[in-house]
Order: sequence, then structure tokens, then C-alpha cells
Amino acid sequence: MAQEVRGIIARAKGEPVSLETIVVPDPGPGEAVVQIQACGVCHTDLHYREGGINDEFPFLLGHEAAGIVESVGAGVNDVAPGDFVILNWRAVCGNCRSCLRGRPQFCFNTHNATQKMTLTDGTELSPALGIGAFCDKTLVAAGQCTKVNPAAAPEVAGLLGCGVMAGLGAAMNTGQVGRGDSVAVFGCGGVGDAAIEGARVAGAHTIIAVDLDDKKLEWAKNFGATHTINAANEDPVEKIREYTGGNGADVVIEAIGLPNVYEQAFYARDLAGTVVLVGVPNPEMKVELPFIDIFGRGGALKSSWYGDCLPSRDFPMLIDLYLQGRLNLDGFVSERINLEDVEAAFHKMESGEVLRSVVMIDGVSA
Ligand SMILES: NC(=O)c1ccc[n+]([C@@H]2O[C@H](COP(=O)([O-])OP(=O)(O)OC[C@H]3O[C@@H](n4cnc5c(N)ncnc54)[C@H](O)[C@@H]3O)[C@@H](O)[C@H]2O)c1
Ligand SMILES: [Zn+2]
Ligand SMILES: [Zn+2]
Repeated sequence: MAQEVRGIIARAKGEPVSLETIVVPDPGPGEAVVQIQACGVCHTDLHYREGGINDEFPFLLGHEAAGIVESVGAGVNDVAPGDFVILNWRAVCGNCRSCLRGRPQFCFNTHNATQKMTLTDGTELSPALGIGAFCDKTLVAAGQCTKVNPAAAPEVAGLLGCGVMAGLGAAMNTGQVGRGDSVAVFGCGGVGDAAIEGARVAGAHTIIAVDLDDKKLEWAKNFGATHTINAANEDPVEKIREYTGGNGADVVIEAIGLPNVYEQAFYARDLAGTVVLVGVPNPEMKVELPFIDIFGRGGALKSSWYGDCLPSRDFPMLIDLYLQGRLNLDGFVSERINLEDVEAAFHKMESGEVLRSVVMIDGVSA
């Protein structure tokens, strides 16, 4: 039977979000209902609220989540009720041209639940990134549930569901950072700091963090930055060359999504080095670079979607590294909050006070 639970809804562009009753259907074929335990507040939730993604209001926000599978529909074999899972927004199809060529991490046909969650008046909800997890329970495609070791706390595990995975993967998967590499990361929010952490775990020798905010640069050191540059006071390209023997970094990661920063990243890299764009640009932005420099500097200019992760391969491995004390995920959780506090968390995110506020669905004591 369909269930009524609480959820955080964005009803209209720019309006504060509200806590409402939502209706979650029983899982149909290939679907699962998940009891959410924790869900991080990500910039993309705010982008939805601001109408920056599309106009399909009302949105059920939240997508960086972990929880327990409550029930599954027909034909679901990979997860079962009681499993501890991280939700992912790239459930691979197995049949598209990329999957068939053995590259499921780039799947071009990722899928979500077929049925819709609704408000009590029947209005269909658009779940953020096909998840919608600022709620007690959500309906997803079973492939969006990735089982991991339940010894990890949900507020930590859920982080891998979006921004932290994007950053870790930008370094480890897309950038292919290896032992002894020099790495520079522009932007030290949750995504950039995760790229720094990923570079550290991958064995980078020099890790240079660039931001405009000294507080962010201090936090970046906790994740393994060996050098920091405040680009408001110093030319980041010159300083990165200085910290890398005059050459530039082997891998430079842009974790902001700004054309001028992308240009800095382009020139801050060594010959034959790699630039990884993980920051998300808006549709109006343009980059202009001398064509001869694109050729003459060699190497690779890459973009990273969700850290080019394959959830089934990467989530369990990263949670195991975390449980072994080899991956710092705790450092991303700035505060634990209640479902009612999402709007306030958006303001903290905008003012740069937090890396991640994480909603604890069962609540936190004041
Ligand atoms: N590719 C993906 O799959 C994916 C997934 C999640 C998020 N993202 C994107 O990653 C980006 C970063 O996300 P976040 O949550 O870390 O954001 P954030 O706002 O927390 O961090 C951005 C950081 O960049 C700094 N900054 C801004 N302008 C700068 C400049 N000119 N030079 C140096 N530093 C500057 C800010 O001070 C801030 O610390 C966003 O664009 C987000 O949409 C991408
Ligand atoms: Zn596919
Ligand atoms: Zn996100």
C-alpha cells in the first residue's frame, strides 16, 4: 500500500522550501523503497529550488543519501529489504552503446523509478536527480541502490552519493592521479576538498589547493593539501609553477565551473598534463584559448561526470577504505541537522560556512 511520509518540497522558483506530506507508492518491477537515514545538502538542491535545472516544479529535494531498503518490486535481485545502501544518480542500463563497449561508468541511458511519488492531492513530484531523499522514504530504481558495509555511519556513507564522489573520482578516475604526481585543485568546497583527498589517497606527492577564502584553504590542509594559494592575493598560475619546479602540475582539477578559472587551470598544468573539469558551468559561459596552446601543450582536457564513478565498483571500495582509516570522509560533515533545517542549510552553504550539512532523518537533539 502507498505510504504517506514527510518530504522537503520546492514548490516554486526561489521560494523557501517546505516540509510536506508526500505519497510513496509500493515498488513496482525493478524499483525499491528506501528508508532514508541521512541526506547531505548539495548545491544542486539549491539549483533546483532556484529553477536553474528545469521548471518541473514541485521538486522533492535531496539526493546525497544513505538508508535501508524497505521493500523491492518484482525482478529485483541485487538488493533486498534490510540492506544498507547508498543512493546513486547514475544507475547504469547495461544496454546502451557505452555499456555494451564495457564502459558502464559513462552509461548514456541511466534510469530512475518509473512510478511517481506525489503530494496528497495527486500532484506528481520531480525528485532531485531522480532520487528525492529529504524525506522519510523514497522510491528509486533498484539500480540506484548500492549496497555497502553497514559499519559506516549513514551521514558519512551518503556523502558518496554526490559531491564527495564527484571530487574523489575527478582525481582517482578521470584524472588518473598516480604515485608521485603533482596535483592542483581550484576551488576548495566539498567537491574540491574531495579531489584533494582523492589525490592524497592515490599517492600524489604535491597537492596545491587554490581558493579565495583563507578558511577554505585551512580546511583543505586537513584533507592533504601540501601547499595553498589564495587567488585573491596571488597569481595562482605563477605560484603553482613555483611549487612544481617551474613546470606546472601533472593534473589540475577545476572544481568551481568558471571560465577564467578553467583558463588558469589550463596554464597551471605541465606539458602533457591533464586538466579535469568537475565544476559545472552554466549554459551561457564560453572559454577562449589560443588554439596553438591546446595543441602545443599536449596532454588531455577532460570533463568528469559524477567522478566517472561506477557505483557498484567504487562505493563499496571507498567505504572499506574509510572503515580502514585510509580515507577521510568524516571531515566533510560540518553539521548534522533536522529535516526542518534544509532552508537554513542553504543559507549556510551560500555563505561558505559549511562543507556539508547533513540531514538526519530521525532527527538530532538540539
Ligand atoms: N561533475 C559533477 O558530477 C559534479 C557533482 C557535484 C557537484 N559538482 C559541481 O562542483 C562545483 C563545486 O561544488 P562545491 O559543492 O564544492 O561548491 P562550493 O561552492 O562549496 O565550492 C566552491 C569553492 O570555490 C571557491 N571559489 C570561487 N571562485 C573562485 C575563484 N575564482 N578562484 C578560486 N576559488 C574560487 C569558493 O570560495 C568555494 O570554496 C560546483 O560547480 C558543483 O555544481 C559537479
Ligand atoms: Zn548504459
Ligand atoms: Zn549533489
